Amino acid sequence: MRTRRSLIDLDDLSGDEIDWIFERAHAFDARAPGPLLEGVDAVNLFFEQSTRTFTSFNLALMRLSANVVNLSPKDLSLATKGESVEDTMVTLAAMGVSVVVVRHPVGGFPGRVAAAFDGHTVNAGDGAHAHPTQALLDLFTLHEEFDSLRGRGVAIVGDVAHSRVAHSTIRGLLRLGAEPILVGPESLLGAADAIAGTRIERDLDAVLGSVDAVILLRIQRERFAEMPLSDRDYVERYQLGSRRLSRLAPHAIVMHPGPYNRGMELDETVLEFAGWRYARQVHNGVFIRMAVLDLLVNGARERVG
Ligand code: NCD
Repeated sequence: MRTRRSLIDLDDLSGDEIDWIFERAHAFDARAPGPLLEGVDAVNLFFEQSTRTFTSFNLALMRLSANVVNLSPKDLSLATKGESVEDTMVTLAAMGVSVVVVRHPVGGFPGRVAAAFDGHTVNAGDGAHAHPTQALLDLFTLHEEFDSLRGRGVAIVGDVAHSRVAHSTIRGLLRLGAEPILVGPESLLGAADAIAGTRIERDLDAVLGSVDAVILLRIQRERFAEMPLSDRDYVERYQLGSRRLSRLAPHAIVMHPGPYNRGMELDETVLEFAGWRYARQVHNGVFIRMAVLDLLVNGARERVG
């Protein structure tokens, strides 16, 4: 029986493990933990462009003293020489690789990797399916701000339908007792309408005054053939700028998984807003990934904190 733990979506973690990851990330931020992954060989397998997530996983692995190899499609026989993903995983495992971090444009690909690989697979984002470490860092950033998320209103604005971040973060918010409100036109919320426990709103102005946090999303144009509404309409109805920021409660924060597009989902005033937490999310991401890798490879040991 396979005993190595993988993280494909948030459901792979228990509530206690999520708490453990948060405690651990907090502790790692306060003090570098030392070589917890010394002697561990890891491969970053990124089939899609990535700035934040790639750098963040790389730093997380290096700060724990793992040996890291970075592979992108041009380096892979699997992309050009007809090797199957299953055979690639056998190859990597035979070299002693025990951690694979994988990003792929097709939803479900990391699940295939995990099924074939005798090691730990970490999903760094697959299609529009899931992005569990981004969800964890989003939840951690909210937890840092508000402690308990129970009853907290979190508006998720824009292209929920194509966002793997939204799909994972919504699951996490619901598990931690928060109240996700999905805001956008029908065409951009898509199947999200069906997510039980979420509220749907079309009018951003109507929700701003009552939420504790707003998570903005990029319009993921690479994932659909035609933008369902004009950029002008989108900006008019959903862009966050000074007028809408002034409607927020004084304690409310604004988040974004990045990359953000100035002039679309936000304008420059958001970047100057006191409650803008983007940099904090990115900062937290490294420690969350260190904690996830530590959990998967070494197991949840003593509670910290
Ligand atoms: C996102 C992604 O790639 O899923 N960014 C990220 O990983 N932080 C969101 C996006 O591409 O818009």
